[in-house]
Amino acid sequence: MTSMKRIVLASRPDGAPTDDNFRLEEVDMPEPGEGEILVETAYMSLDPYMRGRMDDVKSYSAPVPIGGTMEAGAIGRVLKSNSPDFKEGDYAVGRFGWADHGVQPATQCYKWDPSMGSPSLALGVLGMPGFTAWAGMTAYGKLKEGETLVVGAATGPVGSMVGQLARQAGCRVVGVAGGEEKCRMAVETFGFDACIDHRGKDARAMREALKAECPDGIDVYFENVGGPTLGGVLPLMNLHGRIIVCGMIAWYNGAEDETSAFPTGKLWRMILVNRLTIQGLLQTDHVKRMPEFFKEVGPKVAAGEIAYVEDVAEGLENAPKAFMSLLKGGNTGKMVVKIHG
Ligand SMILES: NC(=O)c1ccc[n+]([C@@H]2O[C@H](COP(=O)([O-])OP(=O)(O)OC[C@H]3O[C@@H](n4cnc5c(N)ncnc54)[C@H](OP(=O)(O)O)[C@@H]3O)[C@@H](O)[C@H]2O)c1
Repeated sequence: MTSMKRIVLASRPDGAPTDDNFRLEEVDMPEPGEGEILVETAYMSLDPYMRGRMDDVKSYSAPVPIGGTMEAGAIGRVLKSNSPDFKEGDYAVGRFGWADHGVQPATQCYKWDPSMGSPSLALGVLGMPGFTAWAGMTAYGKLKEGETLVVGAATGPVGSMVGQLARQAGCRVVGVAGGEEKCRMAVETFGFDACIDHRGKDARAMREALKAECPDGIDVYFENVGGPTLGGVLPLMNLHGRIIVCGMIAWYNGAEDETSAFPTGKLWRMILVNRLTIQGLLQTDHVKRMPEFFKEVGPKVAAGEIAYVEDVAEGLENAPKAFMSLLKGGNTGKMVVKIHG
């Protein structure tokens, strides 16, 4: 093969992304240089953070330039290797982008052991999102048996892992998800004690629904969503409560404060009165702990003690549609794109 396909950022979105913001291109197949590997992508990950990379604003990572390949983690079969760490046919996990092939330095990739399961797992339950949940919970959760934890995007790869880890630590776990079907899945598939449908609820209605499911208040809030869910959670936080700020997807297409009852002055006072700990979480700060994650969580996934659900889109050309749907909650479980799976 002499060419490959990739999807580039054609223009920056104003609010929710549209088809016009993406462009599919055919380009020459790259040659791996010294220490690099060339892979044929099996699965590519779609994640909420990619929305942030489409904006030209200061963040923890640089934006994708106009005309640049959209960023993504992916897993692929090594076609050519100029590194002793990979041989032809190995599965490599790395940042190969929205593309059907990719070249990366071998030092920035790691090998996937196919005995762990489908290569797609390397992007979800045993990949970046599962690791994010585990890293945040083990580093900052400080869970005690009998405490109550709330998490939004409850059926996604981060939320579902958070909930299952908290249940295994003996906590009451209340999820927040979009729609009846996802709420049922949180309870029946992931073992949550309860799950609240956030659709059509403002902060006040969320507070009432959460109050009913969290009779002893909330000790840990794993923040994935912001918006009215956050507004509903804040008044219910207990003394010495912990908030782990992982994401705020409700605001990724443009910030709009829907927490209503919580102006900054009131929030500040509440943090003081309740001696709350609010901790930002970035999974890249924890990467050294990945071997520990694989050792602890890998066997649990293999044994069925940690459940996962995947939502598989077919073909690189369908990635933009699947991504736009993900941002609106159209995915059920970890969203991946099958390319040469
Ligand atoms: N800090 C880090 O290092 C790090 C790493 C990975 C992920 N994250 C963050 O973790 C969060 C979850 O990621 P994920 O990969 O597990 O995503 P995900 O659950 O697969 O997908 C995002 C989900 O967010 C929910 N959502 C969308 N709009 C919403 C809204 N307005 N209000 C409430 N919920 C909304 C939808 O679920 P419902 O249909 O259930 O509403 C949607 O399915 C995201 O905020 C992501 O940015 C952070």
